[in-house]
Amino acid sequence: MRVEFTVNGEQYELDTDGDTRLLDYLRDELGLTGVKEGCGVGECGACTVLVEGKPTLSCLTYLPQIDGKEITTIEGLGENGKLHPLQEAFVETGGVQCGFCTPGFIMVSLKLLERNPDPTRKEIREWVEGNICRCTGYTKIVDAVQLAGKWLREKGDKVEL
Ligand code: FES
Ligand code: FES
Repeated sequence: MRVEFTVNGEQYELDTDGDTRLLDYLRDELGLTGVKEGCGVGECGACTVLVEGKPTLSCLTYLPQIDGKEITTIEGLGENGKLHPLQEAFVETGGVQCGFCTPGFIMVSLKLLERNPDPTRKEIREWVEGNICRCTGYTKIVDAVQLAGKWLREKGDKVEL
């Protein structure tokens, strides 16, 4: 079947037999290696991207499911060569260690900050519970989301997905 979609603002159109996962297309065809494969079965969140602004597991998503949709990966964040404030906050707090889980956490947390720019620590922990990190113990990740929310509020900026 013929599908068309956008990834980080670029339009793509191609024929697919329906067996290609979004995860593989992004990494292997588009070179967007920020999206990671951890478990491959929907358990770790490392492969999360935004589909129409909604956090979505790309390991469980096939190309026909994204026909006509807008996809955003970690590479699509930030502007003019600058990191997005949430990316900066992960660096600042040490929420990035090996970094394997980080794109997934960032894509999921963006949605939380869009809904609520001042989440409690409990709300953040609950929101990211589908994402696994083996390095940070999660505390610094929660710190990062809170810090990004604070920066955004101070600047009067909003996350709009
Ligand atoms: S690789 Fe998709 S949830 Fe683990
Ligand atoms: S920073 Fe290494 S898995 Fe999270």
